[in-house]
Amino acid sequence: MNQELTIYADTDNISELTQSFKKFFLNDDSESIAQYRKLTHKVADYISTQIATQKQAYSGKSPHDLINQIAEFEMFPKQGTPLESLLERTRDLVINNNISVYHPNCLAHLHCPTFVASLTAEMIISAFNQSMDSWDQAPAATMIEQAFCDELCRVYGFNDQADATFTGGGTMSNFMGLLLARDHYSQQHYNWNIQKKGLPPEASKFRILCAEFAHFTVAQSASILGLGEHAVVKIKTNEFEEEIAALEDTIIQLRAEGLIPIAYVTTAGTTDFGSVGNIGALAEVAHEHGLWFHVDAAFGGSLIFSEKHKYKLNGINQADSVTVDFHKLFYQPISCGVFLVKNKASFEYIRLHADYLNPESNESLGILDLVYKSIQTTRRFDALKPFLSLQHIGTEKFGEMIDYTIDLASTISDVIEADIQFELATRTQINAVVFRYLPKGNFSEKAIDNLNNEIKTKLLLSGKAIIGQTAVHGKAFLKFTLLNPMTEANSVIELLNEIKSLGNELLKD
Ligand SMILES: Cc1ncc(COP(=O)(O)O)c(C=O)c1O
Repeated sequence: MNQELTIYADTDNISELTQSFKKFFLNDDSESIAQYRKLTHKVADYISTQIATQKQAYSGKSPHDLINQIAEFEMFPKQGTPLESLLERTRDLVINNNISVYHPNCLAHLHCPTFVASLTAEMIISAFNQSMDSWDQAPAATMIEQAFCDELCRVYGFNDQADATFTGGGTMSNFMGLLLARDHYSQQHYNWNIQKKGLPPEASKFRILCAEFAHFTVAQSASILGLGEHAVVKIKTNEFEEEIAALEDTIIQLRAEGLIPIAYVTTAGTTDFGSVGNIGALAEVAHEHGLWFHVDAAFGGSLIFSEKHKYKLNGINQADSVTVDFHKLFYQPISCGVFLVKNKASFEYIRLHADYLNPESNESLGILDLVYKSIQTTRRFDALKPFLSLQHIGTEKFGEMIDYTIDLASTISDVIEADIQFELATRTQINAVVFRYLPKGNFSEKAIDNLNNEIKTKLLLSGKAIIGQTAVHGKAFLKFTLLNPMTEANSVIELLNEIKSLGNELLKD
């Protein structure tokens, strides 16, 4: 017999209480809607004003200045503050002291300006707060992410056995690649399920191979995977490019020593030099010797949409897994990465069942719970950002942007090569320009190192430019990562002149 539930008695007091909570949330209340509209406009206004008027890449505030400004905030106040005045203080502290990724002198890292389309996507993502672990938390989002991933696999030349998942970036994608590589090797060779039993006895002999300039996350992954950083064998390269013969020799040598090479990681766009190896040939060697072949295309993945440069990714469809970052050369706000796998069955190595997230009965209805493909549970709907951006811009225009930035890097390399006060480390294949300032006269290598380090720090702390720094054969070099398609050669040349004047000035001190 149905019996109506009685309404909780103390409704007046309860309504008063919930009403007092309501103003803090976005909800159907007209006041909440009005406040959301007003404040998002205000924030958009602050952001636009800052971007329109920011003359330098950074305000130049020192760590000490920033600490003092933060100290003006009581970190956990008992009573709240009206949002409008709080936003004003936030503007002064945060918005005004950002490194501007839109400024042409922001060229240290793989740190990109972002598309307007993706910023509008961010608003939708955060306002609706969908969570990608289960369909009942993100129905349309789940279907869009899956459709985007399916098509992305086709774009990289994989067949319908492939699949992909969004990640927080290259670190997580590289980790996933090596996690699957390790588990696959154990399953195939020892019938050993690491998920259930932990590492097999042979794991202490597992080796992951990569070139010298592979990203540090390869070693980090080996360490987290319980293999230890010593499991990573870095193959010395001739200059900055990976060599097929060196890979083969290393595999043979490791086997002769009783070790077990399980995977090779190639980098399509090394962080410092933007180098891309011969992916197809490396894949062939890796597979011939039974290694999992992972391509870290965190940087270079976007070349796939460049008619001029996509040939550099030839062979990427031979990979067992691939890292692509959208928050680098795809101009998406952080975080936004993707991990692709050639054989979707490999995701079984990380599948775990949670009754509350993926009850089996859902599958017959076509309901898709994406949690099984990820090492995250709660996950943002980041797929909306590249989805909206590429819908808006089109792959043709996007490809032109990539081409332009690579041409820009080449032009700047020419300028540097022609100037005796600079030394170019190498001509890179994509967007990186690595060089150092050379003072006139006789100076020790140590003095030149110090000078270049000082130039970099002075530019940062004056806010004039954020430039990169790295080491080449033990010497300090500077780096421009020319990702910004709005940057013109003249402004980079102006910065080079500034570097020369700064170098000459420092010599006088
Ligand atoms: C080649 C390469 N792989 C992986 C990463 C790590 O990516 P993320 O910082 O998105 O975790 C980077 C970062 O610069 C990179 O350059």
